Amino acid sequence: MPRWLITGASGQLGARVLHALLARKHADLLALVGTREPPPGAAIARIPLDDVEALRRTVRDFAPDFVIHTAAMTAVSEAFARPDDARRQNTLATRILAESAAECGARFLFTSTDMVFDGANAPYTEDAAPTPLSVYGRTKADAERAIADLPHTLTVRIPLLFGLPATPRPSTFANQLAALRENREQTLFTDEFRTPMWNRDAAEALIRLAESDVAGVLHLCGPQRLSRMEMIVAVARAMGIASPAIRPISRLDVAGPEPRPADLSLRAERFGRLFPDFSPTPVSDPRTWS
Ligand SMILES: NC(=O)c1ccc[n+]([C@@H]2O[C@H](COP(=O)([O-])OP(=O)(O)OC[C@H]3O[C@@H](n4cnc5c(N)ncnc54)[C@H](OP(=O)(O)O)[C@@H]3O)[C@@H](O)[C@H]2O)c1
Repeated sequence: MPRWLITGASGQLGARVLHALLARKHADLLALVGTREPPPGAAIARIPLDDVEALRRTVRDFAPDFVIHTAAMTAVSEAFARPDDARRQNTLATRILAESAAECGARFLFTSTDMVFDGANAPYTEDAAPTPLSVYGRTKADAERAIADLPHTLTVRIPLLFGLPATPRPSTFANQLAALRENREQTLFTDEFRTPMWNRDAAEALIRLAESDVAGVLHLCGPQRLSRMEMIVAVARAMGIASPAIRPISRLDVAGPEPRPADLSLRAERFGRLFPDFSPTPVSDPRTWS
C-alpha cells in the first residue's frame, strides 16, 4: 500500500486531504498534528514544527512514498508578532521535511500561498516573482526557495480556501456562515480580491498532483475572482438570504501593522492543462456550505 504522510492533518486543508485519502481505503496514512485532532482513522504523530530532529526521525521511520506538507503558522498576525518562530515553523521545517522526504525518495508537496505576492499585479501566474508584504508571506516565499533544489518536489500555491472544516475546529468561513444564518452583522472588504477555492477541491487537486510527476511551482485557484464581500453575498444568495447583514468596508479603513494586498487572484492554467477534467466548484454550490 502507498504510504502517505500528511502534515497539518488537523488543519483546514490537511484534514480534508486526510479525509479524502481515508476514503480510498488502500493507503497507509500517518497524520502529523500539533495540538488538535485529525479526522479519525489514521496513525497520529504529535510533533511541534520546531522539533527538527523529531521531524527528521518521523519521516525516516515512516519512509513515506508521498508527503503533503500543509502544517504552518498560518495566522498572519501571529507571524508578524513572532517572526523568528514563523521562520522556524514555516521555512526551516519545510526544508527539513523536504530533505528528509528526498532521502527516502518520496514525492514532496509543499502548500504555499497567494500571499507570496503583493497584490498590485494580479492575476498572478507561476512565472511572477514573489513580492511578499508580510512576515507570513516572506516565510512561505523563503520556504519555496529553500526546497527548489530538491528532487520530486512541488510547491503548490493555494488561494483563499472556503468550505466547512472536516473536523470540529474554528474557521473563518464557518463563522461567516453562522453569522449569515443568525442574521448577525459582519464587516467584509469590498476591495480585497481573491480566487477562492473549495477546500475539498484543493485537497483533491493536491492528491492528484502528488501522484503526478510535476515539479517546480504550480498555482491552484477557484472559478471566480471575488472580493471578500462578494464571496459571502454569493453564499447568502445561494442560501436564499436576499438581504444579508453585511457592512461593507475598505481594507484601507483597517489600520494594521502590515499592508493588506489588494488583489491576490491566481491563474491556474498549468493545473488546467494537466487535469482538463477538473472543474473547480463555485462558492454558490450548496455542497460547499451545507
Ligand atoms: N486556508 C487558506 O485560506 C490558505 C490560503 C493559502 C495558503 N494556505 C496554506 O495551506 C496550508 C494549510 O492551511 P490551513 O488553512 O489548513 O491551516 P490551519 O487550518 O491553520 O492548520 C494548520 C495546521 O498546522 C499545524 N500546526 C501549526 N503550527 C504548528 C506547530 N508549531 N507544530 C505542529 N503543527 C502545527 C496545525 O496543528 P494543530 O491545529 O493540531 O495545532 C494544523 O494542523 C498552509 O501551509 C497555508 O499556508 C492556506
